[in-house]
Amino acid sequence: MVSLMNILEETKPPQLLLDQILVGDCVDHMAKLPAKSVDLIFADPPYNLQLPGGLRRPDNSLVDGVDDEWDKLGDFASYDRVCAEWLRQCRRILKDDGTIWVIGSYHNIFRLGALLQDLGFWILNDVIWRKSNPMPNFRGRRFTNAHETLIWASRQRESRYTFNYASLKALNDDLQMRSDWLIPLCTGPERLRGDRANGDGGKLHPTQKPEALLHRVLLASTKPGDVVLDPFFGTGTTGAVAKKLGRHFIGIDRDPGYAAAAQARIEQIVPGDADSISVTPNKRDAARIPFGLLVERGLISAGETLVDLPRRHAAKVRVDGSLIADQFRGSIHQVAAGIQHLPACNGWSFWHVLRNGKPVSIDALRDQVRQELEL
Ligand SMILES: C[S@@+](CC[C@H](N)C(=O)[O-])C[C@H]1O[C@@H](n2cnc3c(N)ncnc32)[C@H](O)[C@@H]1O
Repeated sequence: MVSLMNILEETKPPQLLLDQILVGDCVDHMAKLPAKSVDLIFADPPYNLQLPGGLRRPDNSLVDGVDDEWDKLGDFASYDRVCAEWLRQCRRILKDDGTIWVIGSYHNIFRLGALLQDLGFWILNDVIWRKSNPMPNFRGRRFTNAHETLIWASRQRESRYTFNYASLKALNDDLQMRSDWLIPLCTGPERLRGDRANGDGGKLHPTQKPEALLHRVLLASTKPGDVVLDPFFGTGTTGAVAKKLGRHFIGIDRDPGYAAAAQARIEQIVPGDADSISVTPNKRDAARIPFGLLVERGLISAGETLVDLPRRHAAKVRVDGSLIADQFRGSIHQVAAGIQHLPACNGWSFWHVLRNGKPVSIDALRDQVRQELEL
């Protein structure tokens, strides 16, 4: 007789096995994962380079290109068929507000972009990874191929996706992060070498991505504790960086040798502590503080004068947190816009109070209130 316990057990939704590498075909494994269960996918699929073997440098040494079996997916139609299959699974397992990154070269990235759009993903950015140390074009018949392209897309147009704008700005010396990233190829001690090494470079894997690239991707588009899935895990760069940054990973690769190397690599990673992995909050995500609260809490007194930074405009603060200047009365935003004859103006960045004769931004006082209230 089938017991209630058995029925409950059998109908339980499949659980996510976190921080694990699954060996086998990514479509088969993703098909077993629950729908809408992962926050981010990073996919570095076969590029289908179809390079002729035996490319040599001017000194006659053999170029260590990508000519592995896993990269050979046939003509464009079969490449598209295979990619549509794994992208469909990616969309099924992504949470509604989740995003996907795909990386590729001119050989495949345009096909991936079209497939993403056809399947209902919404492209947010394409990012150029400019390699500071690209391989030269040995035949001299084309430009040196010095970049790869990443496409960042949300599951759907309406997704309220994660973008840690302020963190990326902090990473870039307080300048907005742009969509062209200068990052070297993975070389030196970061590059895995081993028994499986082939070709002249002694590389364990021909297309190991630099950790710096994944660092930027994960910092931009995930929060600590998020689940990141990589269906083409290779040497496990995504897992290594996810662990460092306090994110969970699920890796899939059909090659047991690569999976074992990735496992050994990730085991050596020591994750950062809670303080070091927390990110700079975005202003627009911060708790809302009305200007009146600064008046109520005595940081600014009723009757005090606010000025703009060059001190061309002034307004008086009223007890209810509204301002008055000439014929204009209203919120910090309305009065700032009115006196400048503009349709709108952010009063938080416009107005300052004078403290010891020096202008102090009311936005800084707002941050002080947030800290005092632990918001
Ligand atoms: C471009 S490499 C990924 C490299 C990886 N990003 C890294 O940093 O090491 C693609 C990987 O996908 C794996 N692969 C190819 N087809 C696959 C499939 N259908 N399912 C799972 N893995 C696959 C290959 O074994 C290879 O390691």
